Amino acid sequence: MNRILAIETSCDETAAAVVEAGRRVVSNVVASQIELHSRYGGVFPEVASRQHVLAIQPVIEEALTKANIAAIQDLDAIAVTHGPGLAGSLLVGVNAAKGLAFASGLPLLPVNHLEGHIYSNWLALPERPAPVPEDSFPALVLIVSGGHTELILMSGHGQYQRLGGTLDDAAGEAFDKVARLLNLGFPGGPVIQRMATQGDPTRYPLPRALSHSAEHRFDFSFSGLKTAVLNLVRQLEQTGPPLAEQPGVVADIAAAFQEAVADVLVAKSADAAITFGVRQVCICGGVSANAMLRQVAQARFTQLGLPLHIPPLAYCTDNAAMIGAAAYYRWRNNTSFPCDLSLDVFANLPVA
Ligand code: KG4
Ligand code: ZN
Repeated sequence: MNRILAIETSCDETAAAVVEAGRRVVSNVVASQIELHSRYGGVFPEVASRQHVLAIQPVIEEALTKANIAAIQDLDAIAVTHGPGLAGSLLVGVNAAKGLAFASGLPLLPVNHLEGHIYSNWLALPERPAPVPEDSFPALVLIVSGGHTELILMSGHGQYQRLGGTLDDAAGEAFDKVARLLNLGFPGGPVIQRMATQGDPTRYPLPRALSHSAEHRFDFSFSGLKTAVLNLVRQLEQTGPPLAEQPGVVADIAAAFQEAVADVLVAKSADAAITFGVRQVCICGGVSANAMLRQVAQARFTQLGLPLHIPPLAYCTDNAAMIGAAAYYRWRNNTSFPCDLSLDVFANLPVA
């Protein structure tokens, strides 16, 4: 059966889930702190840790109740995100998991947060229209979250080669920073997506960085794009009223920005997919919730005849089910875990 209780507290969501055999989500509870942090315009680490302390126990209890688990001993293992993430936030989840493992005698499986995002695509979910990835490798994985933008070649379960990544801001970070520039609030991704639906992406052409760079063929850079938006905003406000009073301008900038990000992510992923002859493509992380990115990626990979997997929306952003899935595949394949019970908050995806 291999029922795993997974715990995730790396950033601003307190999450717990019970996952069976790596794929079946028996319960999945996420307590979001977004409202709490939105007043600060970003995640406030100390506030996040304190909220995790308050939420962790009820969230774990709810996950167990929803999964009809009466006693911890009915589980087979406990998995927890041990990094990368905010140190104070990770500590809360890791300590809760250690306590449960120690008290029950169950094995404790430390999971890398990025590997968790990758395995969000392996979860079999009723709301997922496409089949989950099979064990057909190599697969190309694009991780796009608030803290990371990574292009990875996956040659088997737990086997990764990093092809490239962002040289500066992560894709989600760029959404959040541009939303702040446009006075749209936090988090930036969903609100930019909403504004962009009413905008014209062609009105303000924005750059696609490193598109023709041989040296950085599989790398990304989003800080120039953010600066281009900043300069555009300054220029528009110098020659006219505040942005919010200029009809349609914010929506047009949001649409142009979103399209620039989606274009560059998909173009480089497609280039890598062709170059390495992959058999399937997976996109994951908070930004993979973006409708424009999903649409551009689907069109391009259909054209290339490659199966594309993107998780259902609720599993794009942080959750514990993905941590349970990643733990299962490492455990099943007897892949060594990257660390013992120490708190390696800088832990990065173990790459070849
Ligand atoms: O994976 P995630 O929940 O947390 C990290 O591990 O970082 O990703 C959060 C990021 C935020 O930057 C947020 O703005 C972005 O994902 N995001 C989106 C969308 N929904 C969330 N970006 C673009 N479009 C969206 N619909
Ligand atoms: Zn994440």
